[in-house]
Amino acid sequence: MTIIIDGKACANKILENIKLKTSKLEKKPGLSVILVGEDPASTVYVNNKEKKAIESGFNSYIYRLPHNTLKEELLELINKLNNDDNTDGILLQLPLPGHLNAYDFLDKIDPKKDVDGFHPVNSGKLFLNEKPYAVSCTPKGIIKLLDEYKIKIEGANVVIAGRSNIVGKPLAAMFLNRNATITIAHSKTKNLSEITKNADILISATGRPNIITKDMVKKDAVVIDVGIIRGQDGKLRGDVDFNSVKDIAGFITPVPGGVGPMTIAMLMENTLELHILKISRNKSC
Ligand code: GUN
Repeated sequence: MTIIIDGKACANKILENIKLKTSKLEKKPGLSVILVGEDPASTVYVNNKEKKAIESGFNSYIYRLPHNTLKEELLELINKLNNDDNTDGILLQLPLPGHLNAYDFLDKIDPKKDVDGFHPVNSGKLFLNEKPYAVSCTPKGIIKLLDEYKIKIEGANVVIAGRSNIVGKPLAAMFLNRNATITIAHSKTKNLSEITKNADILISATGRPNIITKDMVKKDAVVIDVGIIRGQDGKLRGDVDFNSVKDIAGFITPVPGGVGPMTIAMLMENTLELHILKISRNKSC
């Protein structure tokens, strides 16, 4: 029987725990989110982050900047937030408008406030299997889901479709750190289905609806769908053809209600962890 992985329930449990821990703190953790422009999907994501931050008992600061913001203006805001004692986590919502390059900014965020784990210091630590200040939220959420469902990672053949800096690459490092065998497939990969059919754990993070079909999945495999695309009918779709793949997979995440809620829960967990790290640094000074 296929088990549908309930990301929403798992995320809610984590968020309740965060709320409880936060209520015992002297000061509220603070999450600052920067949104440049009015990308509709990003606007929805940022509003959601604000809602969950407030529910978690945090201070939420949203900086909505116009589409034509200059590089210098954005750098100035990041510098201000790096020095703001009320801000524990800084998140620069991606993608940025075309005239701004994300990598001109991500390495200017203080690594100790880098709630996304995107700073080279944090991604470098992850690849070295050293403890980063924070780990990228979507990959962290996926590993938590697998642990919650007691899915064995060590020794598993893991195939990740998608090599983004946000999901595919950090996720590969996390699986490697847990002694899995990793294959990363991407748009130039030949014979994708030959590769995916070997996966004990198959992760798809391509953003291409229904790219993973039943014939590409090994019986009883664990299938994790990171894709989230709104179709013309207004419905959210993932990378995986859920209705057919669910008949063959051992475990499968739905869209919505799978990986998405875990990403936001991990953002709150990272904010709380960065706040607690700051407290312990201040105490030891
Ligand atoms: N845009 C889509 N996903 C993410 C994410 O995890 N972090 C940031 N900063 N932007 C995103």
